[in-house]
Amino acid sequence: MSVLIKNGNIVTAAENYVADIFIDGESIQAIGKNLQMQATTTIDATGKYIFPGGIDPHVHLEMPFMGTFSSDTYETGTRAALYGGTTMVIDFILQKQGHSLQSALDEWKGRSDNNCVGDYSFHMAVTDFNEETKKEIKHLVEDIGITSFKTFMAYKGALMIDDRQMIGLMEEVKKQGGLINVHATNGDMIDYLVQKNKEAGNRAPLYHYLSQPEITEAEASERFVDMASYTGCPGYIVHLTCEGALNAVRNATRRNQKIFVETCIQYLILDASLYEKDFEGAKWVMSPPLREKKDQQALWAGINQGLVQVVATDHCPFYWEQKLMGKEDFSKIPNGHPAIENRMELLFSEGVVKNKITLEKFVEVSSTNAAKIFGMFPRKGTIGIGSDADLVIFNPNEKHTLSAKKHHMNVDYSGYEGWDVTGKIKTVILRGKVVIDEGKCLAEKGNGKFIKRSKVSQLI
Ligand code: URP
Ligand code: ZN
Ligand code: ZN
Repeated sequence: MSVLIKNGNIVTAAENYVADIFIDGESIQAIGKNLQMQATTTIDATGKYIFPGGIDPHVHLEMPFMGTFSSDTYETGTRAALYGGTTMVIDFILQKQGHSLQSALDEWKGRSDNNCVGDYSFHMAVTDFNEETKKEIKHLVEDIGITSFKTFMAYKGALMIDDRQMIGLMEEVKKQGGLINVHATNGDMIDYLVQKNKEAGNRAPLYHYLSQPEITEAEASERFVDMASYTGCPGYIVHLTCEGALNAVRNATRRNQKIFVETCIQYLILDASLYEKDFEGAKWVMSPPLREKKDQQALWAGINQGLVQVVATDHCPFYWEQKLMGKEDFSKIPNGHPAIENRMELLFSEGVVKNKITLEKFVEVSSTNAAKIFGMFPRKGTIGIGSDADLVIFNPNEKHTLSAKKHHMNVDYSGYEGWDVTGKIKTVILRGKVVIDEGKCLAEKGNGKFIKRSKVSQLI
């Protein structure tokens, strides 16, 4: 199979130019003006942008969480990702406390093997670090290609580890050439505030927000970067939402630490006023919660300053019926919202069209930096000779409206119902195969490959 894409405006993190792309098999073979190769398929991309396939390094598919499962399966979630121009996702395996990392890997493979439509990898969430767990890290990094280890400083009693475990894990992960990811909020403080609110009879979704004030995130982020500095372990803060936490990172970079930051599309464009909608606010109950306008400004600035390298989703969808588990008690609302399909279009529309970021920055934060940080560059995350032919052909002028009636995520509402966006994904190519074309998915489950990742890259 070969594909020739003619006259597209190719955009990478570094440049932006009009040329043709020739794909043979799974990878890009040539880029240039007026390529004359014979191809099985020719696509005219005149007037369109061609981006590297999006990489969303923060998704939760079919994840057991808060007494239920997130509602997108590996099939529906990776298919919806493709519709949204995301050709690869990194999902999270959760170790069960008292059990091995291997048993968690086996459980997650049982759900994901042969079921993904798009490419995927895993982070391993270590929820119980001990002498046995420590021995498993090397094997995961070297043999399985899982090189990033997630930690939770919150979700007390379920996923949270203490600082003693954090330091031990950091030392081992550093030794093996990996990276520590963190959900950085102060679990003890949050636990206290949740109880206090419940005892006062405050049961609405608004109190989820009020139980996780900015300080809980700023404090934990600072503690995390200090521990990472002490151990010398590279760190990646997931879903950073606020100015206070970003300032902790700003301080850390003064001592030349390797700390990376991810925010998510919702924190850039939605704010905490949505929690004032009574129980409807449950649609946006996530941790950390949505913040204030001043935090959105800090995050956009952080992206442009290079302090925030990645815009992900933390896609963790639940049907409305699942959200109703917390009708009488905000602490029982499953945390998370759907966005895997919307990230690229929203970021383009709210970021590039509104002049908050450049086209090149769009590519950097939606694809290239994740590939670099997580050990996949230049196979993924760019448009270059020899790279996987993961491409998005994008009409920058087409306007449309987001709605649950049209989306492909397995969830019965949208966090962005009625949002008007400018720019539409037209064609998506994954490893040389056209997988999305004009609103149709042409790939089946099993098409997605598990991508073995390298040790932490020195490229960024
Ligand atoms: O609310 C969220 N973020 N749900 C998914 C789990 C996590 O903390 O990332
Ligand atoms: Zn989290
Ligand atoms: Zn998450």
